[in-house]
Amino acid sequence: MSHKRVAILISGGGSNMVSLVDSMTGDHPARPCLVLSNNADAGGLAKAADRGIATAVVDHRPFGGDRAAFEAELCKPLLEAKPDIICLAGFMRVLTGDFVSRFQGRMLNIHPSLLPKYKGLNTHARAIAAGDAEHGCTVHEVTAALDDGPILGQARVKIAPNDTPETLARKVLEWEHKLYPAVLERFARGDKAPVMLP
Ligand code: GRF
Repeated sequence: MSHKRVAILISGGGSNMVSLVDSMTGDHPARPCLVLSNNADAGGLAKAADRGIATAVVDHRPFGGDRAAFEAELCKPLLEAKPDIICLAGFMRVLTGDFVSRFQGRMLNIHPSLLPKYKGLNTHARAIAAGDAEHGCTVHEVTAALDDGPILGQARVKIAPNDTPETLARKVLEWEHKLYPAVLERFARGDKAPVMLP
């Protein structure tokens, strides 16, 4: 059985990418084929190279606000890697509908909130400010609408009275590292039933 090829897009430390890569072993139906970043300084690039995974960088800055031009460049290493599945993992660029439509149905993202609550940024501070009792993370299929799309999994954490955005983010990140690999394995087997943790 040939493995599904998974490309992972990152912008920073890549802790979610590491969790995904380290989960794709044994009888897992997928294997990583590329780690691609918009940031040459992304710490995740060295972690991917240490794991023997091909990496590429397409810096978005030379393109200014021309998202289409950036994405046309981003597509080159991405299409060359022939991915079956694309995982956005701490990838901090908004993608246009045109780009998304090329991969819709096989592109996933992890977002640090219980979608549909708190799309966008600063999710942990917003959950605390709202006095929510719980928070968490969501893996969803990527559609043209930001942080939207069919939910493939969620992990819930309790917000403690003394939680700060930093302590809450750390708690959520630990669950991201459990949720995303679980969703990817199921998705790679063609199963879209949501993974709900704990
Ligand atoms: C995490 O907070 C995650 O929720 C978001 O990007 C942040 C960094 O992730 N998607 P990583 O460590 O680069 O995977």
